[in-house]
Amino acid sequence: MDHAEQQHLAGLPFYAPQGGEVALFTHAWRQRLPVLIKGPTGCGKTRFVEHMAARLGRPLVTVSCHDDLGAADLVGRHLIGPQGTEWHDGPLARAVRSGAICYLDEVVEARKDTTVVLHPLADDRRQLPIERTGEQLQAPPGFMLVISYNPGYQNLLKSLKPSTRQRFVALDFGYPDAATERAIVQAEAGVDAGVAAQLVHLAQGLRRLTGHDLEETASTRLLVMAARLSADGLPLRAACRAAIVDALTDDADTAAALAEVVEASL
Ligand SMILES: Nc1ncnc2c1ncn2[C@@H]1O[C@H](COP(=O)(O)OP(=O)(O)OP(=O)(O)O)[C@@H](O)[C@H]1O
Ligand SMILES: [Mg+2]
Repeated sequence: MDHAEQQHLAGLPFYAPQGGEVALFTHAWRQRLPVLIKGPTGCGKTRFVEHMAARLGRPLVTVSCHDDLGAADLVGRHLIGPQGTEWHDGPLARAVRSGAICYLDEVVEARKDTTVVLHPLADDRRQLPIERTGEQLQAPPGFMLVISYNPGYQNLLKSLKPSTRQRFVALDFGYPDAATERAIVQAEAGVDAGVAAQLVHLAQGLRRLTGHDLEETASTRLLVMAARLSADGLPLRAACRAAIVDALTDDADTAAALAEVVEASL
């Protein structure tokens, strides 16, 4: 990496790569292919997309999908204004018009009718039909569709149809390796290398823990939160209790088991 490249990276949202995802995303963007990112909560999906949008110099439009989100919420709708009814672009139409990166977070939560608008946009047509106005938007070269979901929460009713997922290049995220995760905790929370190492060691112990009804395990996000509390002066044990143990479970027995791992690794 030359000096100019380093300076450019310094101005971007901080992202520590896990593997070849930066190169892969760049290739997909240049080839106008949409990307699907799957991975557990707090592993860096959102930060990665923020980083890549800035790195590629594209505006970013993010939509957090929920079970009430339908096609009109993405594409737009007529609203009553001072001059009568007016058309208002939804975030997806705005992203297409401006050649932005459109990031649909937790896309499996959205209503089924949203896939109808995503399909022609996600294949080589790159079109967004706006049924209500009769307009057919053609996505400019800069536009890119990115979707993410957490396979852990998934049930059969909430999976993506094969016809949807086969339109996307897939990136599978996990938690970063120990050295990368230590660097992330240090950079994000401003703690010293010793504290970062203790937290990552703890996370690895927690991630090995099986046989408890944990829906998800300790994420990089939780480590960063604990580290920030510690950097602000809270003793590390108390920080881990609040940001990790009690964040992960409501069950007293499970909390006791997690607290044991904390005691053993600090
Ligand atoms: N690779 C990374 N580089 C830099 N920071 C990271 C990285 N991975 C995780 N983080 C830190 O963890 C936090 C959570 O990451 P992020 O919000 O990207 O997770 P996510 O995968 O989008 O989670 P969710 O599925 O819950 O939305 C970030 O705010 C950042 O502090
Ligand atoms: Mg996210």
